[in-house]
Parts: sequence; C-alpha cells; structure tokens
Amino acid sequence: EEKEKQDTRESLYLVSEFANTHFQKIMHKTDAGQAIGLSYFKERGFTPETIKTFGLGYALDEWQGFSDEALKKGYKLEFLEKTGLTIVKGEKYFDRFKGRVMFPIQSMSGRVLGFGGRILTNDKKAAKYMNSPESEIYYKSKVLYGIYHAKQSIAKEDNCFLVEGYTDVIQFHQTGITNVVSSSGTALTPEQIRLINRLTKNITVLFDGDAAGMRASVRGVDLILEQGMNVRVCTFPQGEDPDSFAKQNTEEELRAYLESNSKDFIQFKAGLLVEDAKNDPIKKAETIRDIIQSISKIPDRIKQEVYLQECARIMDISESVLFSSLAQISNKET
Ligand code: CTP
Ligand code: MN
Ligand code: MN
Ligand code: MN
Ligand code: MN
Repeated sequence: EEKEKQDTRESLYLVSEFANTHFQKIMHKTDAGQAIGLSYFKERGFTPETIKTFGLGYALDEWQGFSDEALKKGYKLEFLEKTGLTIVKGEKYFDRFKGRVMFPIQSMSGRVLGFGGRILTNDKKAAKYMNSPESEIYYKSKVLYGIYHAKQSIAKEDNCFLVEGYTDVIQFHQTGITNVVSSSGTALTPEQIRLINRLTKNITVLFDGDAAGMRASVRGVDLILEQGMNVRVCTFPQGEDPDSFAKQNTEEELRAYLESNSKDFIQFKAGLLVEDAKNDPIKKAETIRDIIQSISKIPDRIKQEVYLQECARIMDISESVLFSSLAQISNKET
C-alpha cells in the first residue's frame, strides 16, 4: 500500500510538471498567450530572464484546453483531478485555471507541487488569486513559495526575508535580493518556519503596508520566537508592498531601506503604540503586556533576560516589574 501511495504521488508530480511546461508553452508560443499573459508580466516589469526563472505561464480562457491536451498525452483523468488542475463533474470535466497568469509553486528540491493563478484585471469582485487545492503532493502548511530559488542565499546571507505574495518574491529577486520566500495565501505556520530554520535562525518579516499586513506581522513574530529563532520586522509605507517598493528602487536603495528600517520585535511592537498614546497609561500598559507575552514565547532564558532589559529601557519601566510579570505569564502557561 505504501508503494501504491508513492506511485500516485509520482503520477501527480508528472502531471504537475507537464502542466508547468504546458502553461509556459501557451504563454510563449500562442498569440493569446503573448498578447495577454506575456504582456501582463512585462507590464509588471518582469524581465524575460525572471519570467523564465520562475516558470511563469498562462492558462487560456477555455473550458478544457489544458485537460484535453494532458489526456491526449496519456495523463490519466484520475491524476489530473487529484492535482486539482482538472475538475470532474459527472461525465464532464473542465480546467480549474482559465484566463489566468500562472505561478508554479515548487518544493525545496524544485518539484512542482501546485499553482497560483492570477486574474489579469483588478476587478474587485473576482478572487484575485486562485490556488491549487491541497493534494497528496501539496500540503500548503509545509510549503514556502520561492524556497527552491532562495535556499542557497538564505544559508549564505544567514537571513531569510519573509513576504506575503508571489510577486513580492519575484520582484525582490529581480532587484537582486534572493533570500526571500512567501507563505502565499496561507497564514504562516510552524512547519513553514521550520523549513527556514534548517537554513538560518534569522527571519525578517516584510509584510504589506496595510492593516492586514500589520496583523499578519504581529502573528508571525510570536510563531518565529516560539521556535527559538530571531525575528526582525520591516514595514513599508502605507499602500506599498515589497513588490511595488522594490520596483521603484535600485538594489542599493532597497538594501539601505531594509537595513535602516528593520527593527527587532520589541522596537516593532513599541512602535505600534502611536506617538500621542505614549502618555496614555492604559495603552502603554497594554503594549508592555503584549511585549512580555512575546518574550514569554522565547525558549532561551538568557535571550528572555536580554529582551526584558531592552523592553525596560525602551518603555521606561523597571526591569523587576517586567520580570515578575513574565514569571506570572510563564506560570499560567505551564
Ligand atoms: N492570495 C490568495 N488569494 C487571494 C488573495 C491573495 O491566495 N484572493 C495570496 C497570494 O499568494 C498573494 C498573497 O496572498 O500573492 C498576498 O496577497 P495580496 O497582497 O493581495 O496580493 P499581491 O501578492 O500583492 O498580488 P498583486 O501584486 O498581483 O496584486
Ligand atoms: Mn540589481
Ligand atoms: Mn496585501
Ligand atoms: Mn501585496
Ligand atoms: Mn502586490
């Protein structure tokens, strides 16, 4: 039975690889692919080299163009359905991705596991991205978009930039910063952080400059601390995301921005306390409690102590009261 499962997985990998080649071929070799897909990516400022590196492609706006092509090549409907690329309804079947530009999602070793597909308009009614469903080869909580292309430089730079989206990863690469991955559409998971932990202990969270990005950064911080890793956070100006920001800047400018705007989690959380609330005792107490909560996630006692000292200094409060508050939280949780 193990063997059977392994065979199925292998078939799903083959279907996914075929699809990957297919969507790229459609984009480069058909009129519609060039006029719609390729020009979309060019307009976003992606170079031919970038488009090739990330295997970007296009799915025609047809009901079953992809599925028919795959069946003709001998791929079985059963496996097409299991990857989610084909949707089967009774006697009928049709393509999941239609009229979308395609982003293949690869494993650490470069195998294609699934796809993200983006609509070409900014129509607020339609879901902007559609993604492959989970399958026997695609466990979303265990995958990071871009990890295959980033792993070497993550280890070399001893740091990993964590962004929200596909295009953030791609634009950073094109600008010259390659140690970057994205959780793409799922809330960050412990398994995803463990993937990074194999390569470096340092993560810099770079989420979008909007309310959703801010909330996601806050959640991410505690998850990263829990795994004993070091986390920094760099925010972008309101309305910008790593993609749009990188696009407007040279590599040197981008590096300089990241350098001077990355904060450790205490500075980040303290910074969330807006200027005029600094003298509001209740808001200030909430912020301190929140920081202590994060410190309580850190497994290493020495690091806890160092961060307590920093918190005391930044928030201008005695270390001893922070220490007893931390002890209280730690007691409650054990
Ligand atoms: N996402 C998704 N489904 C959606 C919206 C978003 O899966 N309906 C995921 C995608 O992986 C996307 C990421 O969440 O890349 C971040 O979302 P967002 O910031 O809205 O998109 P961008 O990546 O900025 O995409 P674009 O620049 O193409 O608008
Ligand atoms: Mn460059
Ligand atoms: Mn966003
Ligand atoms: Mn974004
Ligand atoms: Mn964007």
